Amino acid sequence: MDEISRYAVGLDVGTSTVRAVVASVNAQGAMNVIGYGEMPNSGMRRGTVANLTGPAQAIDQALGEVERMSGYEVNTATISINGSQILSTQAEGMIAVGGSEHEINETDLRRVEDMALNGRVPANQEILEVVPLQFSLDGQAGIKDPLGMTGSRLEMRANVVSTLTPNFDNLLKVAETANVTPERIVPSAVAAARAVLTERQKENGVAVIDIGSATTGVAIYEEGDLRYVGVVPVGSNNITNDLAMVLALDTEVAEEVKKRFATGNFVEEAGVMVTIRWRGKEVRLERDRIDEVVEERLEEIFNLVRKELRRAHYEQRLPEGVVLTGGGARMRDIDKFVRNMLNMSVKIGVPSGLMGVADSTYKPEYATAVGLMQLSAENPHHGKPLKKTTKKSKSAGKPNFLKKFFGKF
Ligand SMILES: Nc1ncnc2c1ncn2[C@@H]1O[C@H](COP(=O)(O)OP(=O)(O)O)[C@@H](O)[C@H]1O
Ligand SMILES: [Mg+2]
Repeated sequence: MDEISRYAVGLDVGTSTVRAVVASVNAQGAMNVIGYGEMPNSGMRRGTVANLTGPAQAIDQALGEVERMSGYEVNTATISINGSQILSTQAEGMIAVGGSEHEINETDLRRVEDMALNGRVPANQEILEVVPLQFSLDGQAGIKDPLGMTGSRLEMRANVVSTLTPNFDNLLKVAETANVTPERIVPSAVAAARAVLTERQKENGVAVIDIGSATTGVAIYEEGDLRYVGVVPVGSNNITNDLAMVLALDTEVAEEVKKRFATGNFVEEAGVMVTIRWRGKEVRLERDRIDEVVEERLEEIFNLVRKELRRAHYEQRLPEGVVLTGGGARMRDIDKFVRNMLNMSVKIGVPSGLMGVADSTYKPEYATAVGLMQLSAENPHHGKPLKKTTKKSKSAGKPNFLKKFFGKF
């Protein structure tokens, strides 16, 4: 058996559900999924933290599940961030790097990055990622990696992904309350992209559209780089709520109606009735009315998505089309709807090809958690090795959350 050199943990703090995936990583970097878990979340509003206890408790319980399955105590994780305050800014910087014999080194790269960031990101924005798109050396553009090259004037163009500082800080506080040290904070759609996109798709041009409960995230890739991230504050729960209001249903019934009957392929056949049984009673509904509600909301969501693509200048420039992830991507024929509306090829993105107990994570709503785990595995510099559980299962008795909390005193 391969020796385990460390552990990688992905922790997706979604608006409706917290999901965690843990893998052991061997010396060659190969991952073996050893646990996963999920818990309904509360206390989030449109992707951001609205109160600390709800999400902290959900994290604690999801990790408790993961720990029971894997036998490892999670201390650190790569964590998702969401919310429409996430934005992409183009930044450019230029520095002089000494004589013409000078070889570009790490210090130069850091300096040019500082220069590019200087003044480009508002004071109340927290930087999540700086993606260098290209460098120029003495006016020669199109350089991907200038390390070791010679030149005297270095320029950099980068995509800077940031979010509102209070949103970032509150997520850190939630992690702290749940006793998890964040290795890295990654936008939900970017993490999902790691799990479901191929290198070729990223090279040619593709977008991930992560349809969550209250938000829809967009992450665009080209030439292998993350070019743009945006989040619109509407998601699949809006469809549920619309169904509840228009058809005068309990939200629980509306959710069931959505899962069973909502489709992105509208047949427009008048007078067709559908029925579901709910708590012993029969609910009869007109298929057309369900379609109408679903169509209207899907149009709104994908109009906003189209605006994001346009803002990023990628509306008609994605040869590999779009890949849908998130629980919202499970709606029947949603791919047909998106293909018609955006006029692009559409795939449903599910994680795949993992070793270990990963089968249960091969679902669009697990893309973010799996991607976070993969990023955690690939970033040993950020991640510290996790301790092996010495205690017996922490599940019995009082919630893990309280134990960890009181354990601090
Ligand atoms: N079979 C399904 N059909 C349609 N929508 C679904 C289905 N399964 C889950 N969803 C929707 O997916 C959303 C949750 O997606 P998820 O990615 O878990 O959200 P979040 O990341 O915001 O917590 C909910 O709105 C839920 O109703
Ligand atoms: Mg999600």
